[in-house]
Amino acid sequence: MLGIDLNDPKVTLPPQAEIRTLDAFQVDPETLDGPFDLVISDMAPKTSGQRHADQYRSYELVMRALELTKTVLKPGGTFVAKIFQGAEFEEARDAIREVFGKVRTLRPKATRDESYELFLVGLSFQPVTT
Ligand SMILES: C[S@@+](CC[C@H](N)C(=O)[O-])C[C@H]1O[C@@H](n2cnc3c(N)ncnc32)[C@H](O)[C@@H]1O
Repeated sequence: MLGIDLNDPKVTLPPQAEIRTLDAFQVDPETLDGPFDLVISDMAPKTSGQRHADQYRSYELVMRALELTKTVLKPGGTFVAKIFQGAEFEEARDAIREVFGKVRTLRPKATRDESYELFLVGLSFQPVTT
């Protein structure tokens, strides 16, 4: 199990888990030791208070997570990504639909009422072969 985050989470992990301090926009996916059965992106921007700007930065993180996923996910695998719902939401969902057999949108029960966070789920990854 491998995680990446901009910041060191300073937590004790079980032996099979590793977290690397990396920027998702900088990392070379070939160095991530895939392939994996599942990729989860819980990435979120630091909120600025400007809702539309925060939504756009969240969309960019989802699109970057999807790009990395295309390299590291096994065929048939699953992708889950948190997104702040906004103008680009449909675009992100369509991009996931292009390479997954099914796409679902989830709002976990534990989500606070005032939160505009959702999770996009891609099932049955179908890598594009050229
Ligand atoms: C909502 S927190 C979730 C963190 C973790 N999943 C947890 O539950 O503690 C969002 C995380 O996204 C990370 N993040 C934001 N932009 C990132 C980027 N470009 N590359 C890697 N991580 C990023 C932040 O550092 C932050 O830890």
